[in-house]
Amino acid sequence: MRIYISAPAMWFKRSAICLASESTMVGPGTRGSTVLEGRDIAYSYPGATKPVFADINLFTKVDEFIAVVGPTGTGKSTLLRVLAQLIPQAAGKVFLDGVEVTRPSPKISLVHQSIATFPWMTALDNVKLVLAGTGMDEQEAVALCKKMLSVVGLQGFEGYYPKEMSGGMRQRVAIARALAASPEVLLLDEPFVHLDELTANEIRKEVYDLVFNPATTLKSAVLVSHNLHEVVQLADRVYIMNSSPAIIVDIVKIDLPRPRTERDSGFLDCVDELYKGLNLKTAKS
Ligand SMILES: Nc1ncnc2c1ncn2[C@@H]1O[C@H](COP(=O)(O)OP(=O)(O)OP(=O)(O)O)[C@@H](O)[C@H]1O
Ligand SMILES: [Mg+2]
Repeated sequence: MRIYISAPAMWFKRSAICLASESTMVGPGTRGSTVLEGRDIAYSYPGATKPVFADINLFTKVDEFIAVVGPTGTGKSTLLRVLAQLIPQAAGKVFLDGVEVTRPSPKISLVHQSIATFPWMTALDNVKLVLAGTGMDEQEAVALCKKMLSVVGLQGFEGYYPKEMSGGMRQRVAIARALAASPEVLLLDEPFVHLDELTANEIRKEVYDLVFNPATTLKSAVLVSHNLHEVVQLADRVYIMNSSPAIIVDIVKIDLPRPRTERDSGFLDCVDELYKGLNLKTAKS
C-alpha cells in the first residue's frame, strides 16, 4: 500500500493540533479497528482517456469522522460512489470491517450531492424507502423514520411532499433516509450546502453525535465538503485530493477538543493548514 505523507518542510511547520496523522504514516490497523477502507483504488469513467483518480488509500476507524477535500472536479463524489460500491473501481479494493465489499451494502449509506427525493412521495415515504425489503414491521419502520426526520429537524413535516419543501428540507429528508438505513458508515457528499448556517450547525451536531453514540449502528463517517470551517468542526482527519488523475496529496489530523467552534484556539490554524494543503490563499492572509 502506498503511504502519502507531507513533504518534510510542511511537516515541521505544522502546529501541534494540526498534524499529519500518525496512523496515516503507518496505515490502517495500528490503532482501533478499521471500519471502511479503500485500498489502492482508481476509477475511470467509460471512454475517458485517463482515470479520475488513482492509488487512493483511505480508511476510517471506529468513532472516527474523516473528511475529503479537493478542488471541484477532482473526483470526490466519484470516490464516495466507489466506496459505496455504486460504481466499480478500475483498480484496488474496498473493505468494510476487513471484509471486501463488491456491491452496494445497507451498511454503507451515501447522501448524494444532488438532492434525491421522489416528488410523488411524502417526506416519511421518501425516508421509508430505504427500509423496503428489509422485512421491518410497518409500525417499527414508521417510528424509526419519524425519529430520523426529527433528528434532522423535520418533525411535523412527515406528510409534506418535496414540492412543498425547500431545497434544504429536501436535503434533510435525504440525510434522514441515509440514517434510517442504520448504516455503519455514512458517506456525506456536501450534505449541508443548501442549509442556512444555523440549521446546518444543528444537523452537523446531530450527525456527529450519532457517529459517537454507542446506541446507534453508526461507527464512522466520511464527509466531502468545500466548507473548510465545517471540515475542521467535524473531522478527525482530512484527506486532501488534488492533481489529475487525483491522488491524496496530504492528510491533516485535526486534534482539537470537541465540540468545536471557530472561536476555539487553534481552529483557524487548522483551516489555514487545509488551505495550504489545497494550495489556496490562507484564511489569514
Ligand atoms: N457520469 C460521468 N461521466 C463522465 N465523467 C464524469 C461523470 N461524472 C463526473 N465525471 C467527471 O469526473 C471528474 C470528477 O467528478 P466528481 O463529480 O467526482 O468531482 P468532485 O470532486 O465531486 O467535484 P465537485 O467538487 O464539483 O462536486 C470530473 O472531471 C467530471 O467531469
Ligand atoms: Mg462532487
